[in-house]
Amino acid sequence: MEGEPWIFINGSFWPKSQAKISVFDHGLLYGDGIFETLRAYGGKILFLTRHIERLMAGARAISINIGQSAESLCQILYQILAKNHLGDAYLRLSVTRGEGEIGLDPALCPHPTIIVQARAFSGHPPRLYQEGIRAELVKVCRNAPKSTDPAIKSLNFLNNILAMQEALRAGAREAIMLSHEGWVCEGSVSNIFWVREGILKTPATAVGLLAGVTREAVLELARLSGIAVEEGYFSPEDLAAAKEIFLTNTTYEIMPVTLLGQCPVGDGRPGEITRFLLQKYREKIPQFLAEDESNLVRPAES
Ligand code: PDD
Repeated sequence: MEGEPWIFINGSFWPKSQAKISVFDHGLLYGDGIFETLRAYGGKILFLTRHIERLMAGARAISINIGQSAESLCQILYQILAKNHLGDAYLRLSVTRGEGEIGLDPALCPHPTIIVQARAFSGHPPRLYQEGIRAELVKVCRNAPKSTDPAIKSLNFLNNILAMQEALRAGAREAIMLSHEGWVCEGSVSNIFWVREGILKTPATAVGLLAGVTREAVLELARLSGIAVEEGYFSPEDLAAAKEIFLTNTTYEIMPVTLLGQCPVGDGRPGEITRFLLQKYREKIPQFLAEDESNLVRPAES
């Protein structure tokens, strides 16, 4: 199986073609589980502590006992990088409820399924950052926090998938969803920021969204750079009046949006604050990596 990527499943590494889980896994049967998407730069995983903390919080929220410490999850992520000889990479850590008979009682699944996979990834095409992308305000609303809380990075992704389908049909790359109350909420795979009258705005987590790790880092960076920041409840009209819009997530970093539906954003090119923050974010990656204590658990290459 030389050349095939290695996948981690419950303590063992499998070549991709042999990496299999049960048809009784509740991740498949019900989308019952949580996940994290992470990114490694030069063999180090960015914001590893924050990702693992979010995963652990999600596991508690849906009563999955992962049965692994944060340290051992970090080690598995580093093992998958080493085993696949990856430096710049995309990593996906999934934890499902596990295998069990059909039914919703968590007691049917005593052991979660832990899957880790990784592939080479060193960023989206530079052209997207130079030109910006098109985003579409979609009709699909974000899940209400009182039903499936978007703060949980759940494997149950149908809400996001339906929103993305609507965006793709309209010719856009990302969907922007509103909350049920009509506030601007988030993208199907990203958080949203915009600039209006010199203020950087982003929906507050209380609107009902995923508290993105990148969102948090960008907020910190903006505040450190003396940019006025407002987290709150904003209408679609506020967003439509923006001079700049950008999206954040682990793989995008900071992605400029230059078309909202059919309308150019500002002058139709990535804005000044967007470009400034992207440059600062990229410059600070070595510092972010150095500051994250989880990188200390990195096992020796085997
Ligand atoms: N998505 N909001 C949603 C709904 C997301 O799915 C994501 C991440 C984010 C941004 O989170 P972060 O900055 O922690 O990556 C916000 C990942 C990339 C995914 O779908 O795999």
